[in-house]
Order: sequence, then C-alpha cells, then structure tokens
Amino acid sequence: MSNWPKITKENPLGLDDPTLLVQNGVINGKKVNAEDGKTFNVEDPATGKVIGTCPEMTLSDTRRAIQVAHDTFKTFRTTTPAQRQQWLANFHRLVEDNLKDIARLIVWENGKSWTDAMAEATYAASFLSWFAGEALRSNGTTIPCSLPGTRNFTVKQPVGVCALLVPWNFPAAMIARKIGPVLATGCTAVIKVPSETPYTNLAIMELAQRAGVPDGVLNVVTCEANLQDIGKELTTNPLIKKVSFTGSTRVGKILAANASGTLKKMSLELGGNAPLIVFEDADLDTAVAGTIASKFRGSGQTCVCANRIYVHDAIYDKFASALADKVKQFKVGPGFDEGVTHGPLIHMRQADKVQEHVDDAVSKGAKILVGGKRGERTAYFPTVLADVSTECLLNGEETFGPLAALIRFKTEEEVIALANDSEVGLAGYFFSQDSDRIWRVAEALEVGMVGANTGAISQAVIPFGGIKESGYGKEGAHEGTEEYMVTKLITLGSRIKK
Ligand code: SIN
Repeated sequence: MSNWPKITKENPLGLDDPTLLVQNGVINGKKVNAEDGKTFNVEDPATGKVIGTCPEMTLSDTRRAIQVAHDTFKTFRTTTPAQRQQWLANFHRLVEDNLKDIARLIVWENGKSWTDAMAEATYAASFLSWFAGEALRSNGTTIPCSLPGTRNFTVKQPVGVCALLVPWNFPAAMIARKIGPVLATGCTAVIKVPSETPYTNLAIMELAQRAGVPDGVLNVVTCEANLQDIGKELTTNPLIKKVSFTGSTRVGKILAANASGTLKKMSLELGGNAPLIVFEDADLDTAVAGTIASKFRGSGQTCVCANRIYVHDAIYDKFASALADKVKQFKVGPGFDEGVTHGPLIHMRQADKVQEHVDDAVSKGAKILVGGKRGERTAYFPTVLADVSTECLLNGEETFGPLAALIRFKTEEEVIALANDSEVGLAGYFFSQDSDRIWRVAEALEVGMVGANTGAISQAVIPFGGIKESGYGKEGAHEGTEEYMVTKLITLGSRIKK
C-alpha cells in the first residue's frame, strides 16, 4: 500500500491536519518570524525540492526567547506536579492522535521510510507518557540526623531555564525525550531545532500548546546560518541553567567549554561508534536480526548504531552470508514509496562519508557482499562488507550510514580489547548463548548501554546515555528526570528548651 499523502496546493505536505505545518519560531506562545524577516529553506532529502521555509532567527530573537523562558519560570515552577502530569498526559494523547501526520513530516524532511517514521512517532509519544508519570515522582528524602535536635530533608526543585539542542536524526523522539522532563519538573526551555527537520519539532510544539502547556514555557528558535552564534548564546547566557545536547562529540566539546564559564548543568548524548560482537556460540538468526535492528535503523543514522561488527572466525562465513541475504531484500527509495525499507540519507555529505568508508575498507582488502554504491541523490544502498581490517577509518569514526563492516576475531580477550579501543562508549551489543559469557562481556564493555542478544535497546524507560567521549548525563528513565532537577537540603532545628 502506498503511503503517499494526498497533496494539494493548500496542503502541500498532505497532512490530515494541515495546521500542524508550522513555519515559524515560537516565543511566548506566539508564532514569530525572524526580527529581520530572513528565512531559510527546508528540503526533502529524497528530491532536494524545497518543501517550505523557516525564520532565520537572530541573536536578539534568541535573547528574547531566553528572557521569556526566564520570566515564565517564576510562575511555572510553582505549578503542581498533578497539573503538569495532566498537561503531559493531554500532550501524549494529542501526539498519539496525530501519529500519522508526525510520521509524514519525518519522511518529508528527514527522509526515513514510512515504517521507520511511524516507529519514531510512536517512540516520541512514549516519552510523553513516561514523563507524565515522572511529574508525580519528584520525591525528596528524609535523612537521619547526626546533630541533636535537628531533622534533615531534601526537596527536588526544577533547575531553571533549559537550552535544548535537538538533532535531525530523530526529529520527534529527541525533542520529546528532552521536553518531557522539562514539563514534568517545572522547568522552562528554549529549544534550538535543527534546520534540516524543523517541521516535525514545530508540529510537536503546536501539540504541546494545544495540550494546554502555558505560553512561554517552551520557546522555539529556528536557524541555519546563525547556528554558531545562537549555539554560543544558549550555552553562555547566565539565565540558562541547563543545556541538553544530542549530536557529535566535536560539537559537544565546544558547547561544554562554552557552558563551563557559568557552570551550567549539562547532558551530552554524543557520538557512539558502537561495537557489535557475534560470538561462536550465538544463535545465528537472533544475531542476524539483532545486527539488522541495530545497524540499519534509520539507514544507520543513529548514535547507537553498530559501527564495528566483530564476528568469530568459526561462524564468520555463515553469519556474513545470512546477513547479506537479508540486506539484499531491502528496498531503497523515497520514504513514502510502497515497500521502501530505507529512505535517503539526510545530506550529500553523509552519503559521501559512507562512500569514503567503503572505498577505504575496500582499498585495505574488504570485499563488498552487497551494496557498496550510491542511489539517487543522497541515497546509499545498504551495504555489507566482509574481511574488513582493524586499520580501516571506520574503526576510529562513526560512519552514520547503512554500512555493516564485518571484522573477523578469534578470542574473547582479543575482541573485548578491540571493542574497547575507542574514545567513545555509548552502546555496545553482543550475541552469545553462554550465560557466564553474557555477564562477563556485558560488564567488560566500556559503554553506557549494552544490548545482549538484542540490537534494540531504545525505550523511554531506560537511562539512555554513554561514557567516555560519548558524553555524560542520562535521558529517559528516572535518571532523565533527575537531570532537570536540583536537590536542596533543608535541615530543620527545634526550639532550644530552657
Ligand atoms: C540517537 O541516535 O541520538 C538516539 C537514538 C535512540 O534513542 O534510539
């Protein structure tokens, strides 16, 4: 069945609710243009055609948004958890009611296949439902006293105005994962949405407003050329108390350096370069399915994608041929086309990078089992390479594309050393049916998240985040709520008896 929306002049993206196409920034609940009226184009990566425009907001627009968020925080922080839970529950229901339009916007501007886009929209909704519950769980503690006549309590308070810098690879889910805890805890925010995928973010903001979230709580800045100035303002302005960023390690380090001047609280979800290990005792079908789930979700453009796939010598040939057989069945094309499993990549430079990694691996002896070539414009055919050497570029940097690079290994010790030989440590995966090995390897991998016998770990209820240069701070789970709160101690003395 074709998933193409019905397009008309009045409804150019074919949404069931055309008013969800918002082409403005948002300050204090009002849809705004840039102060100087400039705009930038938003393109469909499948065709390169312009699908709309957004305001090229400026430094002074951003400062205005920060001031509004600061002023609104004074009242929003005093709203009750029950009230915030209700707003989040309404918001969740509205996102669920509009899943198809959210998925359509994802396909239009990010290029995902329809199946991937619907899965992302559903994933986004799950964060709102989780954080609706979290609004009621900002509990403090009582602590037995070591000083006579006193009592100790802690209370949890919202950290303040948050700057949220969201990525293009999950335009619905990542904004939901960040604004969920903002609303649950009583913070306010200025959200810098990506220039590639602003419309999904803005549709979600529109639904937040319809859910009753007060004006000024969530403010949105859209920009392309002014990105560096705005990024700097959001990480240096003293009114901002917390920064949450999802993106590359390179940019994360710049933002962390900026934010250090005012010691802002930070959550950084950065690059992954995930290892995936298939041991000789793995169940082959599970390992192939798990590798596909991890490697090819979103055409390989996720931070948790397997990047280095280590396969034991004893099952290498069987695994490689089973994986290649499955990957041959993928269909590449525009995300709305019937049967398409993998859409185009976001940019030409993303497709160039995949080609560079393929060429480099082939020049060092790798064999192309499937794919290894570009499709229309930014598309790249899902690729499996065998006999990849540990000297290839992809060992040291994420491909962020649909390239499964199979590296041979012989011992557990050797493969753990290879897997951990990385500056980053977001996710890692392995497949084995030996229960002793499962514990041993899960504990040995230097990553923040491990998938053992699965390639799918992402859920709202898990503490998502990495170690090493993959950043710090968690998103989702109760840890994701804690990131938006500060703990205050209150020690209560009693009247001195005469
Ligand atoms: C990411 O790629 O940044 C997030 C992926 C996920 O939540 O699964």
